[in-house]
Amino acid sequence: MQDKSKAWSGRFNEPVAELVKRYTASVEFDQRLAEFDIEGSLAHARMLGHQGIIAMSDVASIEQGLAEILQDIRDGKFEWLLDLEDVHLNIEKRLTDKVGDAGKRLHTGRSRNDQVATDVRLWLRATVDDVLARIRKLQLSLLDLAEAHFDTVMPGFTHLQVAQPVTFGHHLLAYYEMLKRDAERFTDARRRINRLPLGAAALAGTSYPIDREMVARALGFDGVCENSLDAVSDRDFAIEFTSAAALVMTHLSRFSEELILWSSPRFGFIDIADRFCTGSSIMPQKKNPDVPELVRGKTGRVTGHLVALLMLMKAQPLAYNKDNQEDKEGLFDTADTLLMTLEIYADMLRGISVDKAAMRQAASEGFATATDLADYLVKKGLPFRDAHEMVAKAVRQAVDQNCDLASLGLPQLQAFSALIEDDVFEVLTLEGSVASRNHTGGTAPAQVKQAIAGARLHLA
Ligand code: ARG
Repeated sequence: MQDKSKAWSGRFNEPVAELVKRYTASVEFDQRLAEFDIEGSLAHARMLGHQGIIAMSDVASIEQGLAEILQDIRDGKFEWLLDLEDVHLNIEKRLTDKVGDAGKRLHTGRSRNDQVATDVRLWLRATVDDVLARIRKLQLSLLDLAEAHFDTVMPGFTHLQVAQPVTFGHHLLAYYEMLKRDAERFTDARRRINRLPLGAAALAGTSYPIDREMVARALGFDGVCENSLDAVSDRDFAIEFTSAAALVMTHLSRFSEELILWSSPRFGFIDIADRFCTGSSIMPQKKNPDVPELVRGKTGRVTGHLVALLMLMKAQPLAYNKDNQEDKEGLFDTADTLLMTLEIYADMLRGISVDKAAMRQAASEGFATATDLADYLVKKGLPFRDAHEMVAKAVRQAVDQNCDLASLGLPQLQAFSALIEDDVFEVLTLEGSVASRNHTGGTAPAQVKQAIAGARLHLA
């Protein structure tokens, strides 16, 4: 006997195999879409009523039934059945149990294909808004730390070797900029997420006199998907979201790598509050930066979801294919991972303390002001290439004598170039070096202050 609860059972001669049921069911994970599924169904039912496709009395029954179901779901009392495959069929079956034929009329002019695409878009839109709020929170956290260290000098690195002195505030603002672009990407993706697929039905549209614009307005969409085949089948909006998420994670992974290095005893630049670290079960001296390490690790996981979604789409002919059911777990996990990471990161930055002396000490090693000496000579008339060569020789001598450039003293420096006078020591200092880079985007404390003010205005 056929199980009559199946929405499509009339066509079949034997029940679906148990293993196949488990293989094809999505209810274990797509029940997460339930509230959006109900929201979409309500808008659809009201439009059907408004257009005279179903009776207003049926609309009232559907509203009543869905309200009760929503309450049951929120109270954790709703029983999800694997036999009913997915979130859509579970809710529809329960509705029909409650309100009879009106429930059976809800699916008029609709398919699960446009229904699921609508649900995912509604869920993703809300998720994007949450992501944007949390990026902003993290940016504010960054700005506070940058403000406290607008003139703290640290070594800037290229090739992980000391290059030129920078201010710590300036270094932090680099991540502010990355996050600013990340937020732009989500805002931009949101415009394309926020289009209504409903009305596409299974793939070709429907013969009922529906009003898609009415449904779009009711659900807060900016407009409808313009082609029914595209509406039910493409998941590029999910791919865009995951791509933007993978980029945020990549940025935070780079930051994490630095936090890990800086907090290691070799660097000793920062200390991460104990609540973000763990100890070792065998080595009593250890304090491990678990949170940044996990952010770095989870970045691979989110990038994996991006690649999985791209692979999911690449060979699908139009229109809907069941492959698309596989979009959800990776997408949900991407959102969960990203949201948690952003939240914990904003807190962790507030738990960072800085050892200014250690930063300064590191900046004063490694000839960080060698470029400043070259620039000094250029300003006195020497061509840059000659200045570069001259300073290289001075550095070599300082290496041999195991001292820094300033400690060579004026007579030794003048042996390299007669252009050097005693004002050279101003440019050889760390403070002089950073202060001289005083233009938009430069590391001078004055610029850092200005950039922070601009950023606060942008976030306000
Ligand atoms: N659970 C399905 C999904 O996530 C819903 C759509 C099913 N449509 C179908 N024709 N089987 O994609």
